[in-house]
Amino acid sequence: MTHTAAQAPRSVDAGSYLVRIAAGLRDQFASQIVAAAPAYRYAVISDVNVAPHYADALVKSLRAHGRASLHVVPAGEQHKTRATWARLTDDLLADGCGRDTTVVALGGGVVGDLAGFVAATFMRGIPVVQCPTTLLAMIDASVGGKTGVDTASGKNLVGSFHPPAAVLADVETTRTLPLAHRRAGLAEAIKHGAIADSAYFRAVHDACAAILDSDPSATLDVVERSVQIKAAIVRDDPRERGKRKTLNFGHTLGHAIEHASGYTLLHGECVAIGMVLETRIAERLGIAQQGTAAAIAAALTQAGLPVDRPAYLVPPAVLSATRLDKKAQAGAVEYALPRRIGMMFDGDGVWSLPVDDALVLEVLA
Ligand SMILES: NC(=O)c1ccc[n+]([C@@H]2O[C@H](COP(=O)([O-])OP(=O)(O)OC[C@H]3O[C@@H](n4cnc5c(N)ncnc54)[C@H](O)[C@@H]3O)[C@@H](O)[C@H]2O)c1
Ligand SMILES: [Zn+2]
Repeated sequence: MTHTAAQAPRSVDAGSYLVRIAAGLRDQFASQIVAAAPAYRYAVISDVNVAPHYADALVKSLRAHGRASLHVVPAGEQHKTRATWARLTDDLLADGCGRDTTVVALGGGVVGDLAGFVAATFMRGIPVVQCPTTLLAMIDASVGGKTGVDTASGKNLVGSFHPPAAVLADVETTRTLPLAHRRAGLAEAIKHGAIADSAYFRAVHDACAAILDSDPSATLDVVERSVQIKAAIVRDDPRERGKRKTLNFGHTLGHAIEHASGYTLLHGECVAIGMVLETRIAERLGIAQQGTAAAIAAALTQAGLPVDRPAYLVPPAVLSATRLDKKAQAGAVEYALPRRIGMMFDGDGVWSLPVDDALVLEVLA
């Protein structure tokens, strides 16, 4: 892979930490990690697909600053579990890691959520630096401090808020990422445009082909703007009591579809389908401008993402999977709904609404 000499990174202030983004930033990962979270030991957590490309160079350069070890987990959502968390924490203990350790998450959102949860819980909490290597993790998962694992009952049901000490995104690493995963990352970028910035929504649409081609400058622009949007929302509402709920647009039905599919569909694919279906709900409730669902579907189709419920997932199965949603309030499942491209429903500080089962079944039909 060609390797760009790192330029000065772009920085986004995410509140208590900075997100740094550049093509070729991996050359500076070690020095940036040491600056953000100096430690006696560095425990790099990665997965079997990412480690062969990027882990050796990182561990080697960290060894110039202290002790460093590599912990590789199997790839995929099915391994984002308490069992993998237990194995990792056992490994860290066996390696002699203590409170003077910094965890480094090198991988996609699965590694980020797992390693973040290890850091949140190990010795009651040690620092983590997120080094996202998928478009989805750069754009979304690495920012905001949510960490956790899935259980048999559903996604992200056991976890913690544990903001990173820094996020370091080298957009060049998306070049080794399979195309389907680049598409999946674009779903979250389209979401950020849909919830907060109509000009950005159009910009993502226009830059789609370049991003799917891993063009570094197009990827850099999208990661930067998405992180700005997410960071601004999270800074205002870190614990998701209000406005942060808008980031869950597409995720109530998206997570239900993901769970019902047995995690055979990618997270971004499920969010794509979820956004279209939830916007149809909003249109039927008279909350969203007519045509909003069609505009979102067009952008997702342009990115090569699915917009329809797969036929094998019957509506009642999807509906019942929504009941596992951890955002349910007093037993009712909540939906963050759009008004139009760039603006979400806000009923005087109430950012999500319960929706009747009958209407959910109607849009799923
Ligand atoms: N914490 C949050 O706020 C948040 C937000 C959104 C999503 N998430 C979570 O993120 C996860 C999805 O993340 P994801 O889409 O990054 O999936 P992922 O971590 O499974 O990565 C996708 C695939 O690409 C491989 N891969 C990663 N980087 C690569 C690279 N540079 N080159 C080659 N292969 C590479 C991985 O091994 C994996 O097979 C879900 O578990 C979701 O719940 C969390
Ligand atoms: Zn998501």
